Amino acid sequence: MKILLLGRGGQVGWELQRSLSVLGDLVALGHGTVEQCGDFTNPEGIAHTVRALRPDVIVNAAAHTAVDKAESEPELAHLLNAVTPGVLAREAKILGALLVHYSTDYVFDGSGDTPRDEQAFVAPLSVYGQTKLEGEQLIQSSGCRHMIFRTSWVYAARGGNFAKTILRLAQEREQLTVINDQFGAPTGADMLADVTAHAIRHAQQSSESLGLYHCVAGGETTWHAYAQYVLDTAKQLKPELALKVQTITPVATSAFPTPAKRPHNSRLSTHKLQANFGLQLPHWHHGVARMLQEIL
Ligand SMILES: NC(=O)c1ccc[n+]([C@@H]2O[C@H](COP(=O)([O-])OP(=O)(O)OC[C@H]3O[C@@H](n4cnc5c(N)ncnc54)[C@H](OP(=O)(O)O)[C@@H]3O)[C@@H](O)[C@H]2O)c1
Repeated sequence: MKILLLGRGGQVGWELQRSLSVLGDLVALGHGTVEQCGDFTNPEGIAHTVRALRPDVIVNAAAHTAVDKAESEPELAHLLNAVTPGVLAREAKILGALLVHYSTDYVFDGSGDTPRDEQAFVAPLSVYGQTKLEGEQLIQSSGCRHMIFRTSWVYAARGGNFAKTILRLAQEREQLTVINDQFGAPTGADMLADVTAHAIRHAQQSSESLGLYHCVAGGETTWHAYAQYVLDTAKQLKPELALKVQTITPVATSAFPTPAKRPHNSRLSTHKLQANFGLQLPHWHHGVARMLQEIL
């Protein structure tokens, strides 16, 4: 099996390089790869790459993920999150290839307080959410074989992340202020990559596995409780860590105005994914504790 991975340098892309490598011949391309075009600002260059490589599976981990920046560069966000994924879908359809793509809880308006399933009404609040939704729709309407995984609050040991920022600030300041009215589940890029590899194997055997899935870690939290968990776990793992912080004050989202509006309720139901693929998604504590062990 030949697999083409796009966006190899991102959080999820990096972990996919590991998890997909055992499935077949993997060609992993990034933004600036020179041997083949991996640049999503050049949709026809991406189409040319697909035609030249003729993969059986295309996995797209590239996206415009800078949520606030997308508000001031909507054309670029639209190109990366919608137009080029649409071109990938067109080429996948022509080839008969499977396209795997990632989307987000930001396609929802975040109202209510229960987990949303894959059928729930979509109403994005931001340019990022709107363009990610358009990407989903272009893939769905192309007729190509596809799996789309909507996820949330992605972190990885590699690169910057919320936990690292909290750990740094906790060493510099006595008081931190963190939002406590957005609810979701921090989801490890490593888990997403492992689920993807498993799902691709499944999809090779049964076309009933195709479609849209919610894929997040188990449990739920707020950014405030997430921060508290990071510090408590860090203290246990490394008692000698010099933390200055005395209190983490919970505040409403309105205390931190940002260009992009974010959903309050990012809870996603993963029943469909767990049932269709026979998987059990671990509680978010497991992955975050493991990531902390890696970075401390
Ligand atoms: N991060 C989250 O919290 C989150 C939440 C929900 C859903 N998702 C979705 O999950 C998927 C993976 O996200 P992630 O967290 O791994 O994102 P990420 O770490 O920001 O990585 C994004 C990737 O896109 C690439 N990229 C940016 N501009 C590009 C261009 N012009 N051409 C080609 N590649 C380009 C980046 O490459 P360079 O590094 O070379 O620029 C990077 O490899 C995305 O579909 C995202 O929408 C993420």
